[in-house]
Amino acid sequence: MTFQDRIKQGIPSELPSKKTYEKAINHAPKRMDILSNEEKELAIRNALRYFDKKHHTVLAKEFAEELKEYGRIYMYRFRPEYQFYARPINEYPGNSVQAKAIMHMIQNNLDEAVAQHPHELITYGGNGAVFQNWAQYLLTMKYLSEMNNEQTLVMYSGHPMGLFPSNANAPRVVVTNGMMIPNYSKQNDWEKYNALGVTQYGQMTAGSFMYIGPQGIVHGTTITVLNAGRKIAKNGEPLAGKLFLTSGLGGMSGAQPKAGNIAGCVTVCAEVNPKITEIRLSQGWIDEKITDLDELAARVKIAKENKEVVSIAFLGNIVEVWEKFAEENVYVDLGSDQTSLHNPWAGGYYPAGISFEESNVMMVENPPLFKEKVQESLRRQVVAINKHTAKGTYFFDYGNAFLLEASRAGADVMAKNGIDFKYPSYVQDIMGPMCFDYGFGPFRWVCTSANPADLEKTDAIACEVLEEIKKNSPKEIQQQMTDNIQWIKGAQENKLVVGSQARILYADAEGRMKIAEAFNNAINNGEISQPIVLGRDHHDVSGTDSPYRETSNIYDGSKFTADMAIQNVIGDSFRGATWVSIHNGGGVGWGEVINGGFGMVLDGSLEAEKRLKSMLFWDVNNGIARRNWARNEGAVFAIKRAMEVEPNLKVTLPNLVDDQILKDLF
Ligand SMILES: NC(=O)c1ccc[n+]([C@@H]2O[C@H](COP(=O)([O-])OP(=O)(O)OC[C@H]3O[C@@H](n4cnc5c(N)ncnc54)[C@H](O)[C@@H]3O)[C@@H](O)[C@H]2O)c1
Repeated sequence: MTFQDRIKQGIPSELPSKKTYEKAINHAPKRMDILSNEEKELAIRNALRYFDKKHHTVLAKEFAEELKEYGRIYMYRFRPEYQFYARPINEYPGNSVQAKAIMHMIQNNLDEAVAQHPHELITYGGNGAVFQNWAQYLLTMKYLSEMNNEQTLVMYSGHPMGLFPSNANAPRVVVTNGMMIPNYSKQNDWEKYNALGVTQYGQMTAGSFMYIGPQGIVHGTTITVLNAGRKIAKNGEPLAGKLFLTSGLGGMSGAQPKAGNIAGCVTVCAEVNPKITEIRLSQGWIDEKITDLDELAARVKIAKENKEVVSIAFLGNIVEVWEKFAEENVYVDLGSDQTSLHNPWAGGYYPAGISFEESNVMMVENPPLFKEKVQESLRRQVVAINKHTAKGTYFFDYGNAFLLEASRAGADVMAKNGIDFKYPSYVQDIMGPMCFDYGFGPFRWVCTSANPADLEKTDAIACEVLEEIKKNSPKEIQQQMTDNIQWIKGAQENKLVVGSQARILYADAEGRMKIAEAFNNAINNGEISQPIVLGRDHHDVSGTDSPYRETSNIYDGSKFTADMAIQNVIGDSFRGATWVSIHNGGGVGWGEVINGGFGMVLDGSLEAEKRLKSMLFWDVNNGIARRNWARNEGAVFAIKRAMEVEPNLKVTLPNLVDDQILKDLF
């Protein structure tokens, strides 16, 4: 059967043969055994809904085994044999170019070279799911291959509810992931309802089909490291000879060493998982691997002295590195952490003092003890970090809920006022005031031809557009423009593509709209051979309400509200997005964030041009308007500028209050 026929077939009517569990693949850790026996029955009943009754006896037994063995029902038997990768768009069956582009994106999110746990349909972040099980994947692809441009596919946490009549201007797919009644949004609620098969954690770009491999994050990480470097520079000196110490070589964290190299410093990144470390080594994302702490300290001293630009993976626990460097007086200039603390009890954070293998067993067999060990380890890690910051290290939270979980563990991370943390998050200090408030965020595109020549062409177009815009940019955004032009010029050379032919850069509304328009024209005149998908990370100006990350630099009390993200996705959907998504959880954890995103297919048409202008303008300026209302200086500047350009935009501006007026009122 051809690839196309397999897609059109959906869930096969006859059972495919049972699969062996491939040990060489990086698998998701066993999930918590949280369901009662009655609930387990319900989980099996739920899973069997996808299959003809004649298969129920066989599958009920098999799914019960999966639930017991892995804590979830993945339906491994139904994982297709064909290879997963972003195939050229014409290879997908279907009646809608938009739907085919979405298939291209889905396949990329499940590509073995891209996804963290491909067989469990997890793209990144330990639990960032595209689908909950293989039946959902098969059915979704079938629907996409059948749909026309007068239909919309409705997806509930990976489950394709079906095709509904809509219209040509409506999104082709509407995705919701993990949306819960607010009181049912605790960590264990995810464990329970995910095990029942009724919800999933979509992270940000996993469940919205917008992941583009580590490149997506390399750029943001480079900007963060560069600007953190600018913050600590005493006389504007570069990062040469300075040390950046952090952890994690996973889906996003793996970008840190590459970013460190681009920014020009010495990077040490600890990682406990040997498989992941090998993958990053083989991909060239790290230069060296060291397994011994003494050797590491000695190597780092030499690298600093010689001002080497080098990234070193330490195979072991990050806590030990912080402690060792404190003991040996290795000065850390920049420090952070990117273990997956949004998911602390199920494999996101490995406690010091216990082996990787032991941890994997303990988290399933003795969750209370595992939790104790994690919290003990976090306290230990903070003691060591505090020793370094006392000497001058600039430590920042990398949006992984490190400070939040450390505070919950009773570690010494609170500021004197007992409300704030003593260290900033990267958004508070860097991303927020320097990027988001001005509308700069992680705009990205994917060439659905899968042809590197198209990507090269788009890089050149984007560079030209940015250089043109920069000529008349105000001084407030000159640094951003310069960094992004430099990035796009070096993009080909830095070989950032893993998976689909994709590119990311930080742009504001003007940049995004002008680049997109230029792409659309290039498709129209044949310079670019096939449609382009536009998108962005949810981690952006308007897409995400997350009090400890994206909206951590909102200080009017509204950072615990989620109106912006909800408004954003609704607004995108009626302004021309090809697909939209809204998620609970992502980055900092289930219940801690609401985030949304979009995908937009450019096909060179006039309709696409209208859509891109309308939607991209809103997609950035919604967030700037909100940040402006929160009295953020950069955002007030940016929204006034936007109103000058677009007379139909009328935004409420805040009146600032003199401190004097509020004195002695209470
Ligand atoms: N890069 C960014 O810009 C960015 C932005 C926002 C949030 N984040 C957050 O960063 C975290 C990491 O994301 P990811 O996709 O890389 O997750 P991931 O789970 O793929 O990777 C985390 C890695 O940390 C390792 N690890 C866990 N505990 C460790 C320890 N004590 N010592 C050494 N290694 C340890 C794990 O083995 C794993 O490989 C997430 O919470 C994510 O939300 C990243």
